Order: sequence, then structure tokens, then C-alpha cells
Amino acid sequence: MSEDEDVSVIVVGSCMTDLVSQAPRLPKAGETIHGYKFFIGFGGKGANQCVQAARLGAKTAMVCKVGKDVFGDSYIQNFKNNGVSTAFAEQTEKAATGAASIIVNDTVKTIFNPAPAIADLHSDFYKASDVFCCNESEAELLTGLPVSSVEDAKQVGLDLLHKGCGSVIVTLGPQGCVVCESTSVAAKLVPTTTVTAVDTTGAGDSFIGALAFYMAHYPTMPLEEMARRANMVAAVSVQQVGTQTSFPFLKDLPPELF
Ligand SMILES: Nc1ncnc2c1ncn2[C@@H]1O[C@H](COP(=O)(O)OP(=O)(O)OP(=O)(O)O)[C@@H](O)[C@H]1O
Ligand SMILES: *[C@@H]1O[C@H](CO)[C@@H](O)[C@H](O)[C@H]1NC(C)=O
Ligand SMILES: *[C@@H]1O[C@H](CO)[C@@H](O)[C@H](O)[C@H]1NC(C)=O
Repeated sequence: MSEDEDVSVIVVGSCMTDLVSQAPRLPKAGETIHGYKFFIGFGGKGANQCVQAARLGAKTAMVCKVGKDVFGDSYIQNFKNNGVSTAFAEQTEKAATGAASIIVNDTVKTIFNPAPAIADLHSDFYKASDVFCCNESEAELLTGLPVSSVEDAKQVGLDLLHKGCGSVIVTLGPQGCVVCESTSVAAKLVPTTTVTAVDTTGAGDSFIGALAFYMAHYPTMPLEEMARRANMVAAVSVQQVGTQTSFPFLKDLPPELF
């Protein structure tokens, strides 16, 4: 980079070589386990931000130091490939390029929301769903069964479960939702405190977003409890107009939900 060259984004930060292993679970201390995939990637917060800005069209320069080793060489090349100036990306003999060993385990779960629903949804979608979450009309369309009561909702929930989903949640507006799990034979109603709805647009999305939050942050919480809490979050969203404008923030919710 010459001094007169225009650079609009300069990032001072880290460059890390990510050594990523995919395995069913994390090994215990000292344990050796089988993984099924391994790859080397480019990471580090500073470098990530710089590459993203460059890919959006910013003229960028990275200020960093990597080792004079193969990881360092390929990182410099990676910056060049992404159009990032390496004029201030130095290599040193005194230290090795930073490396991060990352293990991605199988516990990242999938929530599938079949919206807009189609009657002949491919069977793979059910099988790939850890939690299949739909509302009453979607459940009707997918199963061909009417849903006009909680008992109906339990029946369609079990019907969807038998298509190969890990679990099923059918949302029921002011009545809460029905949860069906492959670990238990019965479908359960998770009732909610009915509130006077001002605008229900996006209630289902608020529910699913909340569910995703609980699955990610409280992985051992029973699904029924997650559904109970997601009901409470969605209930807040229906009491104000708008879609995202009505979605509550952490600070707006009672602490017992966290
Ligand atoms: N009147 C209400 N009182 C309390 N909770 C409600 C009310 N209406 C909706 N909810 C909550 O919102 C969740 C989702 O509502 P619903 O089943 O109507 O989803 P949806 O039909 O996909 O929503 P939409 O399509 O309007 O975004 C319910 O499971 C419930 O937790
Ligand atoms: C999988 O990873 C998550 C997130 O890092 C962690 O909370 C969980 O305990 C891990 N599970 C196993 C079985 O290693
Ligand atoms: C279910 O969600 C769909 C969007 O996929 C929406 O069009 C429909 O009105 C919802 N049904 C109910 C009963 O809220």
C-alpha cells in the first residue's frame, strides 16, 4: 500500500488459524475420540472483521503480526485473496502464528418452521428437524387433519412426530402450545396466561426466536419448560403493535425467565 492509496477501513487486531474438528461430543481431559471432519480455516476477530468489510467493497488494510511459518504465509495470502492490503501485516521469527483449536459438537440443534406450509412437504424436512414448530393452520395443511381444539392439536402433533421429527410444537395462539416429544407417548398442552392481544402479527416468530434462545443458552432445560417460557415472551409481543417493534428485550422481561 502506498501512502497515497485510499484506505477506508483499517483494522488492528488478531489473525488466528482455526483448526476445526467436528465430533459427536467434546473429549474429556486426556480422552481420544473419533471425529468425522477436520479443516483449517482463517479466523481471529480482527481479521474476520477486516475480510467482511473488504468483501462488501471497502478498501481495507490489516495491521497485525503473524509468525514466519506456514500458517503465517497462508494467512498473508488469504488477505491478498480477499483484497486486503498487507502492507502492515508483518511476519516475525520470534513467535508462531496464533492457532485456535475448535471442536464443533453435534448438539447444535435445528428448529424447522414450515412457513408458508405446503401439503406435500418432503419427508427429509421432518427427519432433519430436532424441533418442528408450526401453528394450527400449518399443522392442518401438513397432516390433512382439522385442528379446532386442543385435543386435535395433540393428535396432529403426534402425527407430525411420527413423520420423523425429534419433537413437535404446535402453537395455539392464546391457548399456548402443544408439545410432543419422542421420549414420551403423550402430547402435552403447555398453557399460557391469555392476554388481550393488540396485534398478533409475528407472535409465532417471537415464540420461535425465544425457543431458539432457550435451546442455545439452556441446552439441558426440558423442552416443555422452554415452551412455557417462549409462551411468556410471545405473550408480551402481542400486547403491542408491529412485528419486530413489539418483540421484548431481555430488560423488559421478568428475571425468572432467565
Ligand atoms: N392472546 C394471546 N395471549 C397470550 N399469548 C398469546 C396470545 N396470542 C398468541 N400468543 C402466544 O404466541 C404464540 C404464537 O401464536 P400463534 O399460534 O397465533 O402463532 P402464529 O399464528 O404463527 O402467529 P402469527 O402468524 O400471527 O405471527 C402462542 O403459542 C402463544 O404463546
Ligand atoms: C456441545 O457444545 C455445547 C456448546 O459449546 C456445550 O454446551 C455442550 O456441553 C457440548 N456437549 C457435549 C456433549 O460435548
Ligand atoms: C399460521 O402462520 C401462517 C404463516 O405461515 C399464517 O398465514 C396463518 O394465519 C397462521 N395461522 C394461525 C391460526 O394463526
